[in-house]
Amino acid sequence: MTDEQIRNQENPVLTILRTTDEVNQLKDVDTILDKILYESRKFSNADAGSIFLVDKDSLIFSFVQNDTLFKGEGANAALYQNFGIPISEQSIVGYVAKTRNSLAIDDAYELDVTLPFSFNKSFDEKSGYRTTSMLTIPLIAQESRLVGVMQLINAKNDMGKVVPFDDDARTYIPLFCNNASVAIERGIMNRELILRMMQMAELRDPTETGAHVQRVGAYCAEIYGTWAARRKQSAKEIKRVRDNLRLAAMLHDVGKVGIPDAILKKPGKLTDEEFDVIKMHTIFGARLFNNLTSDLDRMSMEIALCHHEKWEGRGYPGKVTPDIWSPEVQMGEPKNGEDIPLGARICAVADVFDALSSPRSYKDPFPDEKCISILESDAGTHFDPEIVEIFVEIFDVIKAIRAKYKEQWKG
Ligand code: C2E
Ligand code: SIN
Ligand code: SIN
Ligand code: FE
Ligand code: FE
Repeated sequence: MTDEQIRNQENPVLTILRTTDEVNQLKDVDTILDKILYESRKFSNADAGSIFLVDKDSLIFSFVQNDTLFKGEGANAALYQNFGIPISEQSIVGYVAKTRNSLAIDDAYELDVTLPFSFNKSFDEKSGYRTTSMLTIPLIAQESRLVGVMQLINAKNDMGKVVPFDDDARTYIPLFCNNASVAIERGIMNRELILRMMQMAELRDPTETGAHVQRVGAYCAEIYGTWAARRKQSAKEIKRVRDNLRLAAMLHDVGKVGIPDAILKKPGKLTDEEFDVIKMHTIFGARLFNNLTSDLDRMSMEIALCHHEKWEGRGYPGKVTPDIWSPEVQMGEPKNGEDIPLGARICAVADVFDALSSPRSYKDPFPDEKCISILESDAGTHFDPEIVEIFVEIFDVIKAIRAKYKEQWKG
C-alpha cells in the first residue's frame, strides 16, 4: 500500500495523532521542521511549502520543500537560504503571524486589492514557479507563544491539477500544527543547549564558535543523507540517523573544555608534548557520553572519540587501554577503515574542511580550491575516499551552509 492509499484510508484524527507521535521522537530543530512540513504537505497533497521561524520582529525563512523545483531526499542548497520578512500586515506570512489565524488563498495572483497584504512574486519570478493556492498557518506553542508560520503551496487533486486547499486540510493541519509547534520549541531549545555547551569550550578555544559547530553539524547531516541515499535506505531511517548525527557532530570537540588555555590558545605551532595534551580532547569528550543510554549518546561518544582517526591508521587516540575512564589511559593501536564509525569518518572530513576554510590562531583561511585539493589528496589516507567524493559532489550545498552560518561576533 502506498502512503497515498494509507492517507485515504485512515481517519484524519488518527493520522494526526500518529504523526504527532513521530514528530515527538525527533530532537534537532531542522529534522523536526522537515518532518512537519513533509507530513502537512502529504496530508493536503501540496506541491511545496516553507516554514518561517520568529526571530524578534521578523520571520526568518527557515525551511523549504518543493517537489516541482527540487525532488527527493538528496542534498539541496536551497534549504540553506536565509532571509527575513518583518512581522507586519503587508506580507501574507506577516499577516498570519499578526492575526494568528490561518488563511487560505485560492489564487495568490487574484487577491482582492482591499486586503492589507499582497503576494510577493519575487520567488516565482526568480524560479519560474507558479504559486496558486496557499494555506498559511501560524505555529503557536504553549502559553500562546508564536514560534513561526508554515505556508503550504499548490494543493493538487488526484489528476495532479492545482486546486484550492480542501476543508480537511483547512481543519486538521492547523490542529496538527498546534502540537508540532511544541516540538519545534523543544528542538530550538536542544540546539541552544548544545550551543551553550559549546560556548564553554569556546571560552577556552576561540576557534570553536557556535557558527563552526553549526556548520560542521549541517555538513555532516548532508554528507550522511547522500551516503545513505546511495544505499537506498528508507527516508524514515535516513531522517532518524541524520537527526542524531547533526547533534552528535556539533559536539565533536566538546572535550576541549578539559584542555588548558596555555595550550589551546597558543598562537603558532605546538610542541609534540603540547599536541599530546590536545589529543586528550577526544577521550575527555567521549567520557561525557559514556552512559550510552540512547542512540544519540552512542553516536556522540563515537564521534568525540574517533573524529581524528585516519582511514589508513595513524590517527588518534586509537584503541585505548585499559579504558577511557582510567587515569592511566593509553592511546593505542590505530583504528582504520570501517573500524572507525561512519559518523566519525564523516565528521573528520567536515571538521577538517571547516578548519581549512576558516582562520586559526596558527593559519589564515585557505581558498576553496586549496581546501578541496587537500581533502582529495588525503582521500584514502586520512579520509574515507567515498566521503570525500560525496563532499565534492555536494559542494554547492556545503557553500550554502557556510554562507548561512557565518561567524557573528557577539556583543
Ligand atoms: P582545529 O584547528 O579545529 O583543526 C582540526 C583538524 O583540521 C586538525 O586536526 C587537522 O587535521 C586539520 N587541519 C587544521 N589546519 C590544517 C592545515 O593547515 N593543514 C592541514 N592539512 N590540516 C589542517 P589535528 O591536527 O589533530 O588538530 C586538532 C586540534 O589541535 C586543532 O583543531 C587545534 O585546536 C589544535 N592544533 C593543531 N595544530 C595546532 C598548532 O600548530 N597550533 C595550535 N595553537 N593549535 C593546534
Ligand atoms: C509572503 O507570504 O508574502 C511571503 C512568502 C511568499 O512570497 O510566498
Ligand atoms: C547508525 O547508527 O544506525 C548508522 C551510523 C553509524 O554506523 O554510526
Ligand atoms: Fe577535534
Ligand atoms: Fe572542530
